Amino acid sequence: MSVILPAASTSSPLGSSTPTPTPARGRWRGFLSGAREIDDAALQVQGRLPDWLRGGLLLNGPALWDLPRGSYRHWFDGLAMLHRIEFAPEAAPRYRSRFARSQDYLESIAAGAPAYSAFDTRDPETLLQRLRHFGKPRSTDNPAVVMSRVGAQWIATTESPHLLAFDPLSLASEGRLEFDDGLGIQIMGAHGITDAEGNYWNVGITLGPKCIYKLFRLRPGGHRRELVGSVRVAKAGYTHAFAMTPGHALIWETALRAQPLGFLFTGRSYIENFRWDPAHGSVLHAVSLADGSVRSWDIPPMLAFHPVQAYQDGADLVAELCCFDDAGIIDALQLTRLRAGEPLGQMPRLRRYRLRQGHGEALVEDFGGGLDLPQVHPERFGRARAGICWGSGLDAAGASRFFDRTLRLDLERREQRSWQRPDAIQLEPLFVPRPGGTEEDDGVLLVPTLADADDTTRIGVVDAHSMECLALVQAPQVIPFGFHAAWAG
Ligand SMILES: [Fe+2]
Repeated sequence: MSVILPAASTSSPLGSSTPTPTPARGRWRGFLSGAREIDDAALQVQGRLPDWLRGGLLLNGPALWDLPRGSYRHWFDGLAMLHRIEFAPEAAPRYRSRFARSQDYLESIAAGAPAYSAFDTRDPETLLQRLRHFGKPRSTDNPAVVMSRVGAQWIATTESPHLLAFDPLSLASEGRLEFDDGLGIQIMGAHGITDAEGNYWNVGITLGPKCIYKLFRLRPGGHRRELVGSVRVAKAGYTHAFAMTPGHALIWETALRAQPLGFLFTGRSYIENFRWDPAHGSVLHAVSLADGSVRSWDIPPMLAFHPVQAYQDGADLVAELCCFDDAGIIDALQLTRLRAGEPLGQMPRLRRYRLRQGHGEALVEDFGGGLDLPQVHPERFGRARAGICWGSGLDAAGASRFFDRTLRLDLERREQRSWQRPDAIQLEPLFVPRPGGTEEDDGVLLVPTLADADDTTRIGVVDAHSMECLALVQAPQVIPFGFHAAWAG
C-alpha cells in the first residue's frame, strides 16, 4: 500500500504530514493525491477561445486517496474535489478548486484515515461499532462522481442516497439535502437526471430478501422524493445510472448483482457486495412515467455504467448504452494498476437495445468498441433522439492503455471522427452548445487531458463538429482524473 506525498501547500488538508513519494509518472500522475485548494488563478491559453464561450466548467472527481494512516484502493474511492474554470469574453479563464466537505471528508481528515466504507475500500469500523447501527448501515456521502441540479440548487453525488449541495461559484459545500419521505433506499444511481422543469429524477434501491428499484422525482425546493414507479427483482444489479425518454424511465439490471445481506451486516466495501451472475442474464425495465407500470425485456448479461441516450421510436423504446461483457472493468480500475500504467484490458461496446411491444427479448445492435463517458446535446438527452454523440475513446483494436482520444460518432451514418493529443489521457468531453446554434453539434467540447510532457492539466477546447482543437487551457495544477463535468452557464 503506497502513501503519496501531497504537494506542499498551506491549503493541503493534511498539513505537514509526510507520506512517501509516488511511483506514478507521466500521464498517470492524474491518479495521484496532491491537488490543492486554489482560490483564484488566471490561466494561460494556447490557441483561440470562441468569443461566445461564457460560463463555468465544473469538474468533479476523486482527488485524495492517501491519508497519513491509511489509503483507498480504487480510483472511485478518493475524497471528492470540485473545480471551476470560468470562461469570459476577452479575459483569461480563471480557476478555483475546493474539496467537498462531506461528512466522510471531515471524519476521514480528522482521523487521518478512511472513516467510511468506500467503493472498494472496506469499512474501518469494528463489528461492535457496526452493530450499533444494526440494519441501518452508515454509507459514505463522498460525492466524487456526478454534479446535477434540483431546480437552481447544485448537488454532487456518489452511489449512496446522499445529495450534497454546493455553490457553483465558490464551490463551497452547503450541507446535505435531507428528506422526510421514508423512501427507504440504501443505494442509488450516481447519475440523476434533471428535467426541463428542474425536477431531479433518480433510481434508488431498497435491499432485502427481494430488492426494489424505486424511481423517484424530487421537485425544486422539495423535501419528499416522490415514488413514481418501482420494479421488484430477486437481486438488484449494480446501478450507476439510468435513462429517460419523455414517457419512460429505463433501468438496466446488470448481471453484477447485489448480495443484500452483505450490505446490511458486513464491513465489506461497496463493490464486494456484488457478484457477477451471468447465468441470470440482464434485463431492461421500462417504467411508465404516466402510471408507474413496468414492462421488461431480457438481454444478454452485461454491465453498463452510462447511457448514450434513450428515446421512443414509433411503438418501440430504444436504449443506447456503453456496455461491458463482464465485470473485469471494476478490478482494472484499482489504483495500483492505474498508477503503474497497466493497460486497461477492457473494451466498452456501444449497443442499441430495441424494446418491442409483445416481445420478451430486446433486439441488440452492436456499434463496436471503444467509447464510454458519452455525451449528447443536453437538450436532446431524455427529450429527443440525438444523432451525434461524443465520448472518451480507446483504440478499438485494443492498442490503448487507457482512454486516450476524444470521439465523435454519427449514430446514423456510423461515421467516426476523433481528436487525440500524443501520449495523453483524455477524459469525458463536455459538450457546450453555442448560444443560438441550431445544429446538434454546433458548439465545443471541453476535454480534460494530461500528457506525459505536461506539467499540469490541459483542457482541450475542441470544435464538436470538425473535432479540431481550437485551444488548450493550462490549469495551475494536475487536476486528478475525475469522471464527469457540468456546465454552469
Ligand atoms: Fe458515471
